[in-house]
Amino acid sequence: MASYPLVIKAVEWVNGKVRWLDTSLLPHEEVYRESSSYEDVARAIENMEIRGAPAIGVAAALAVAATVYNAPTSDLNELRTLALRAIERLSRTRPTAYNLFWALDRMKRVVMASHSDGEGLRKAIVEEALRIYQEDIETNIKIGEIGEKLIEDGDTILTHCNAGALATSAFGTALAVIRVAWYKGKKIRVIATETRPVLQGARLTVWELKKEGIPVTLITDNMVGYVMYKGLVNKVIVGADRILMDGHVINKIGTYTIAIAAKRHNIPFYVAAPTSTFDPKSKINEVVIEERNPDEVRKVLGKVLITVADIPVLNPAFDITPPDLVSAIITEKGVVTPPYTENIRKILGTGI
Ligand code: MRU
Repeated sequence: MASYPLVIKAVEWVNGKVRWLDTSLLPHEEVYRESSSYEDVARAIENMEIRGAPAIGVAAALAVAATVYNAPTSDLNELRTLALRAIERLSRTRPTAYNLFWALDRMKRVVMASHSDGEGLRKAIVEEALRIYQEDIETNIKIGEIGEKLIEDGDTILTHCNAGALATSAFGTALAVIRVAWYKGKKIRVIATETRPVLQGARLTVWELKKEGIPVTLITDNMVGYVMYKGLVNKVIVGADRILMDGHVINKIGTYTIAIAAKRHNIPFYVAAPTSTFDPKSKINEVVIEERNPDEVRKVLGKVLITVADIPVLNPAFDITPPDLVSAIITEKGVVTPPYTENIRKILGTGI
């Protein structure tokens, strides 16, 4: 695997603590926070200082590790109880991103395995969390290298929300594809949608691409149809919070609308995601779509009221894109194309 500069590290393990870039303050302030408390990390996930499916999963695993690493006891049962309490709390932070449950399941398996003593358990928990962190970065680079082959010199790629370094430990998923294409010398341009109501596109995607000199233009969400109609976009690449075995893609609200417009204009619609985003069990009607605070819609960035103060609003954080609108899913194990039920099974290597 080639090495690439990791310009932004959104989540890290530093001296036994979780360190994260508070993405809620970007692009105006670049503030790093750190803690060894699972409660602090859980709140940071809830209030979206840490956001994006892979980043949430990695941060949760590291929070379990930091809790146990710093616990003032070596008693096996006490450490196990503490780790399970951390896992339970962290699993209640955000309901949709599958990577959170995938990472916490991995941590739980280690916690419940047999260990000779407390120190053995502590070591195993920290090692597993660091593996999840390291694998995230390697996976993202692989997604970038595999997905880059779908990008042609001169492409203009539309992306939604932020599926970049700021949504992972580093490097991103959809933006990993864009990064690798750029590093390989392809002259590409990016169109980022602002992504109402939390503005991940306007605040995060443009900030991280600009930092690396990748040309990016910002549009409002309602300009997508126009730019496609005008022939200003060749490809769409987005991330995912959860992908079902039949190819349904759950991602940031607005993704579905973009996929419909892309289909109408014969523009390939790609999803870039690690295999840890695939939910092997749920059916579409079992997936919980997070409903967030109505004030995110009533106000801009929690500050300026743009409507009648008590107007009822809907605020689903994610939507569902049916498989027939998805041209391909780019994973670290390869590109999955339809028929999804058959091909996702093959790539995951499961007998499900
Ligand atoms: O609400 P957010 O900001 O956590 O939503 C993030 C997204 O929808 C991303 O597209 C998704 O998590 C993929 S990130 C690599």
